[in-house]
Amino acid sequence: MSATSDPIGIFDSGVGGLTVLRALRERLPSESFVYLGDTARLPYGTKTAATVQRYALNAAAHLSGRGIKLLVIACNTASSYALDAVADSSRVPVLGVVRPGVRAALLTGAGRIGVIGTEGTVRSESYQKALAGLGSAIEVMALPCPLFVPLAEEGWGDHPITDQIARHYLRPMLAWGAETIILGCTHYPLLRPSLERVVGPEVRLVDSARAVADAVISDHSELIDTSHGEPGAVRIELTDASERFLRITSGILGGEPERLEIVDLDAAPGPTA
Ligand code: DGL
Repeated sequence: MSATSDPIGIFDSGVGGLTVLRALRERLPSESFVYLGDTARLPYGTKTAATVQRYALNAAAHLSGRGIKLLVIACNTASSYALDAVADSSRVPVLGVVRPGVRAALLTGAGRIGVIGTEGTVRSESYQKALAGLGSAIEVMALPCPLFVPLAEEGWGDHPITDQIARHYLRPMLAWGAETIILGCTHYPLLRPSLERVVGPEVRLVDSARAVADAVISDHSELIDTSHGEPGAVRIELTDASERFLRITSGILGGEPERLEIVDLDAAPGPTA
C-alpha cells in the first residue's frame, strides 16, 4: 500500500522528460520525485516498438524498487509503445503523456489538430488513435520532426536555425490549416520561442508536460500532496551522465540537481528511496 509521502516516479529516455518534472514540481512543490533518465540507451524515438517496450518495462521495474506511489511515463515514445505493458505489470497507477496531451488539445476547441513527435511516436499512431477515440469529429495530421531533439539539447530553443528547420517541418501542417499543435515529445517545449514565432499567434501549442501535471492532480488526488508546505526531495537517476547531459539537466532545472546518481538498469533494484 502506497503512502502519500512516497515519491512520484518519472521515467524518460533521457533528460528531456525533466520538462515534465519541472511542470510537476511547479504544481506540486511538496511532493518528492525520483526521475529516471535512460541516457545510456537513448534515443527511443528511432527504435522499434519491441525494444522501447523492453526498455520501458526495465525502467518501470527499477522505479518500483524505489518505493514510488505513482509512475509518470514522461517519454512520448515510451508512452506510445509501452503504456499498456507497463501498466499491466505495475503495482502502482501509471500515467503516460498521450491522453493528457490529447485532452488538453481537445479543450482548445480546434477542429484540425496537428501532432509532432519522434518517428516512433508518429508511427505508433498513439495520438491519432487517442484523438479519434476522444474527439470523433477531429481531423488529425501527425508529422515527425527528428531534428528538434538535438536542437533542444543544443539549447537552441530561440534560434534562427531552429526557426528555419521548424518552418520546413511544419509547412505542410500549417498549409493544411492546423489550429492546435500538440508538442508530442519531451524536448519540444524547450523550443517554444522558435515554434511560436513560426506557427504565429493563431495556432495554439499544447505542451504535454503541463498537461500530464494537470492529469496527475485531477486523476490521482487521493495520492498527492497539494499543500505548498515543506519542499519535497528530488532525486535524479541517469543511466549515463556525460557532461552534455549534466549541462542540459542544469539548464532545464535552472540549476544543479540536489541529488544525482548513475544507475545500472541491468543490476537488481537498489534499496527503496
Ligand atoms: N523522450 C523522447 C520522446 O518524448 C524523445 C527523445 C528520444 O527519442 O529518446 O519521445
